[in-house]
Amino acid sequence: MRKNIVAGNWKMNNDLKATSKLVKQIRKSIKKTDLKNTRVIIAPTFVNLTMAVKRSKKSKLEVAAQNMHQAENGAFTGEISANMLKSVGVNIVVLGHSERRAYFGETDALLAEKVNAALAHKLEVIFCFGEELADRKAGKQETVVESQIKNALFHLEATAFKKIVLAYEPVWAIGTGETASPEQAQDMHAFIRKTLADKYGNDIANNVSILYGGSVKPENAQEIFSKPDVDGGLIGGAALKAEDFYEIVNAF
Ligand code: 13P
Repeated sequence: MRKNIVAGNWKMNNDLKATSKLVKQIRKSIKKTDLKNTRVIIAPTFVNLTMAVKRSKKSKLEVAAQNMHQAENGAFTGEISANMLKSVGVNIVVLGHSERRAYFGETDALLAEKVNAALAHKLEVIFCFGEELADRKAGKQETVVESQIKNALFHLEATAFKKIVLAYEPVWAIGTGETASPEQAQDMHAFIRKTLADKYGNDIANNVSILYGGSVKPENAQEIFSKPDVDGGLIGGAALKAEDFYEIVNAF
């Protein structure tokens, strides 16, 4: 059965001290909750991963990286490899975030390479994609999403999907306060699941968790998460406040 997941993408926020404090607060708050079928993940910046992993030990909190380089190692100044993440105890990586695509020129082809490298190192991948406002206005959201998924993931063997979580994040809803309606999210998630089923069969499609991201807050999480094909959220702004994040985790 697929899992529910609430993942906090901290982006470029929180220095060492702030990370330490927030990890402690989240860890404490989830300790008193029956998480049932829900996984809780946080993705701090690279420099704070080691500490976050250490502080999350012996708790249900899982730690992810926000990005990684596709090469094994070598002359790639400023980059971080899959092996480096594994070596500090990180087992999950977020790939394909729209900010990486928009500001750092990450293409579907590059993301396919990153996904391969991550899986080769047994990292679980939270793969992000989503249409821009102009695509939705033109009614092209499904075509865009379908091609993002196909181009970066459809070369994979079916078994690889055990290590893949999908995150639908419409670009127009990220950090804007404008959330996709629960119906818009459900429609797209159902489309994504069907796209997967057409290629890999129902078994794979029904076992992949599909998260929604884009202005998820304590006030709207429950309604969005109640939709049958929405298996949780990738949370930006609201993941930076322990109480808000905890409320979102509790929305299940
Ligand atoms: P917000 O929740 O701030 O809209 O960000 C969503 C996001 O980009 C998570 O990856």
